[in-house]
Amino acid sequence: MTRLSGITPSGHAHAGNYLGAIRRWAREGAPGDLYFVSDLHAMTTPYHPQRLRAHTRELLAVLIASGIEPDQMFVQSDLIREVGALTWLLECTCAYGEAARMTQFKEKAGKDGKVTARLGLLTYPVLMAADILLQGADEVPVGDDQEQHVELARALARRFNGTFGEVFVVPRAVTPQAGARIRDLAHPDRKMDKSAGDVAGVIFLMDAPDLVRRKVKRAVTDSLDRLEYRPDDQPGLANLLEIVAACTGKSPREVADSFDSYGTLKDAAAEALIEELRPIRDTARTLLDDPSELDRVRADGAVRARERGTHRLQSALRLAGVG
Ligand code: TYM
Repeated sequence: MTRLSGITPSGHAHAGNYLGAIRRWAREGAPGDLYFVSDLHAMTTPYHPQRLRAHTRELLAVLIASGIEPDQMFVQSDLIREVGALTWLLECTCAYGEAARMTQFKEKAGKDGKVTARLGLLTYPVLMAADILLQGADEVPVGDDQEQHVELARALARRFNGTFGEVFVVPRAVTPQAGARIRDLAHPDRKMDKSAGDVAGVIFLMDAPDLVRRKVKRAVTDSLDRLEYRPDDQPGLANLLEIVAACTGKSPREVADSFDSYGTLKDAAAEALIEELRPIRDTARTLLDDPSELDRVRADGAVRARERGTHRLQSALRLAGVG
């Protein structure tokens, strides 16, 4: 069984990425699994090339620092020919309406999205399907926000197999029990996001402990003064409970029962995050100071992932009547 997942360098990695995805990849990963930095995905909205390169390096360092085996990683653009070719085959398998109804497209494209959004933003889930199908992944561990995209990959794999012949493994998304959707601390109505304009409620993995404390202290809760786990009515509080739960292995309800004020819960959430993130931050810093190790991991990963995906791409091209 192969697991595969990716992270987009559209900004600095945050606690949501870590608790919802990266930490699981490191803990549950088995030989043969693949984790990658999806830099091509960061080009779907206006971006800065040098910053994209820097974020790609930082994320590679974070993946290694989190304990994922270096021989399980690669950077997506190192496979641009393979993944680009498969994207075209899959785009010709995907209906416009299927892509246009993706929640993330609708959110990011905004009201006049049909006119001004980049085409890449519309077709990005197809590129994601190509990432998954190229490597024959059975399971795709992601947070809640990516489930819909993995469903599309399933649909496209089935359709291609049914139309042209069996070549793709039909993948499935696996989401974590705790931490599947960490919210922005300052705006609990939205998820914690790398590309958020206001970073007051985003805990970045590289944030210093004092900054983490300040951000958590200012987290928006409510005036009900009722320490219960009720995500619909008390989303800010529920988020803090989920963060502590994800860091301690307890359930959010158990966490709620073990505190008697919002203040003490916030202190505990800050300390739990600081302790959870400290080793990753320290190791990532060391790796970023010594670029040769990152370069080596990247180069080896590219060779391995390319070798692994090429035969499936060739079979798909042949079945589709081209190549
Ligand atoms: P990305 O970079 O947005 O997120 C990386 C992973 O972090 C999870 N995540 C969260 N989990 C909990 N709370 C949050 N606030 C939160 N924000 C993000 C995401 O669910 C994801 O698992 N398109 C993908 C990257 C990608 C990919 C793939 C993933 C490209 N190709 C193929 C799987 C398979 C993305 O932009 O993730």
